Amino acid sequence: MSPVSAGFFVHTFGCQMNMHDSDRIRETLVDAGFTESKNEDEAAIIIFNTCSVREKAEQKLRSEIGKLAPRKLRDPDLVLCVAGCVAQQEGEALLKQIPHCDIIVGPDNILELPMLVTDHRAGGPRAARAVFDVDAPRFLQARFGDTSAEKAPVSAFVTTMKGCDERCSFCIVPHTRGPERYRPTSEILEEIGGYVNAGAREIVLLGQTVDSFRDPALPETGSEDPDETQFPLLLRAIAEAHPKLARLRYTSPHPRHTTPSLVRAHAELDVLAKHVHLPVQSGSDRVLKRMIRRYTSAEYVRRAKALQAARPGLTMSTDIIVGFPGETREDFDATLALVREVNFVSLFAFKYSERPYTPSLKLKDDVTEVEKSERLAELFALSGELTQAHLKTLLGTTQTILVEGRSKNAGRSDANGNPIVRAGVLVQGRTERNEIVHVEVPTNLAVDRELLEVRVTKAYRHSLFGEATERGLRALPMRDPNVPMATNEKRSRRLPIAPVV
Ligand code: SAH
Ligand code: F3S
Repeated sequence: MSPVSAGFFVHTFGCQMNMHDSDRIRETLVDAGFTESKNEDEAAIIIFNTCSVREKAEQKLRSEIGKLAPRKLRDPDLVLCVAGCVAQQEGEALLKQIPHCDIIVGPDNILELPMLVTDHRAGGPRAARAVFDVDAPRFLQARFGDTSAEKAPVSAFVTTMKGCDERCSFCIVPHTRGPERYRPTSEILEEIGGYVNAGAREIVLLGQTVDSFRDPALPETGSEDPDETQFPLLLRAIAEAHPKLARLRYTSPHPRHTTPSLVRAHAELDVLAKHVHLPVQSGSDRVLKRMIRRYTSAEYVRRAKALQAARPGLTMSTDIIVGFPGETREDFDATLALVREVNFVSLFAFKYSERPYTPSLKLKDDVTEVEKSERLAELFALSGELTQAHLKTLLGTTQTILVEGRSKNAGRSDANGNPIVRAGVLVQGRTERNEIVHVEVPTNLAVDRELLEVRVTKAYRHSLFGEATERGLRALPMRDPNVPMATNEKRSRRLPIAPVV
């Protein structure tokens, strides 16, 4: 069997970092001569890029890979790989736990995957590689130039750091992703430049504590505050180097580093989106202390309000854990109060889940499953209320959206059965904050990847409907009728990547 004929398929679980890593897995395999299969059934190599942040995610992997045991029995040449956080967490032990799994590869060993697969297909033994690249950190960089025909996604993720030096007592990430390592600013600027030249209009900087960024090549901060980092300087360097960039976002920051200099960057840099996702985890000081989050709820609120004041209209979202060991009803009420006070427009909330290697394992997981479910439901109800109230405040306002392509609602009808698109084409885009807006535009105008001014006319549960303003339409170029409009599938495609030499 030649490696060129071998098709692979990647399943992705978990966060944006895993989605980003899955792209690197695909591209590394394609660079080595493998081809991506349309689905799992046609693939000779199946990769599970896994998440272990909560127990459920890990169980899901075990059940999904378990389903392939009969196929592996029928077809021993099938290669099954586990990548990502569960691979790093369990290492070689996973080969014993899952007898039909052939290869284990940690997040820092993606470049070794083609070799591991090739060796295994040539008759080599089952193998595990899960070693952090602490001494010589490697960041896989997007490669541009020979694929100029291929457009970058409208919005592209760029990694700025990996690992985490915090020790939040509930979190397995420091164990699965290792210590913090920062990418050099020059490499970050270069990758952003490549994306922008290939058509990306928005960049999302990615890191576990993205705002702890440090780089000896950047000027010193000159601050005595130990929480001050060079992240605001990185943001300024990006804004200066890439004036064509329409929007810059980052995820996820740690509230500790939301210092006055970061707040100033939000006040001064127009390119920064008017939205910050700032995980809080709890609104109770007692719980925050036991979580080892290193801020109080008052400090968090002060920092959140400083961001909101720096950029009028800036909205915020967050992550919350309910049912952390010892969380009382009173503690949870403090979380609800904080959610109201900051007025989060959306939030991710999770039931506390015991994870191996985490300090909070020493605490008793004493909040019952029923209580956890009730608190989660209460939190989601409040969050839904706040989202609705926020979307309603946008009715009648004028917003600038970045158009991503055809709307997923394009074929839908209204309540009377009439098609919602009458003449033009229905596209969707995002405001400076991140609300999705659907809007109809004439078919003779080029709207893909353009900024478009719209007036908001309707607020749905999670999105908005708008009308393009005269001024917005006049600013659009004419469309080349031979170029098809982007669909949302196309948006998620990434450019090939290559190792940095
Ligand atoms: N800094 C990371 C956080 C990774 S974990 C980032 O950039 O996203 C993502 C979220 O999962 C955390 O913010 C937390 O709310 C939740 N989480 C982490 N460990 C958890 C656990 N043991 N149980 C429940 N939720 C957890
Ligand atoms: Fe996890 Fe806390 Fe780091 S949530 S990723 S240990 S900042």
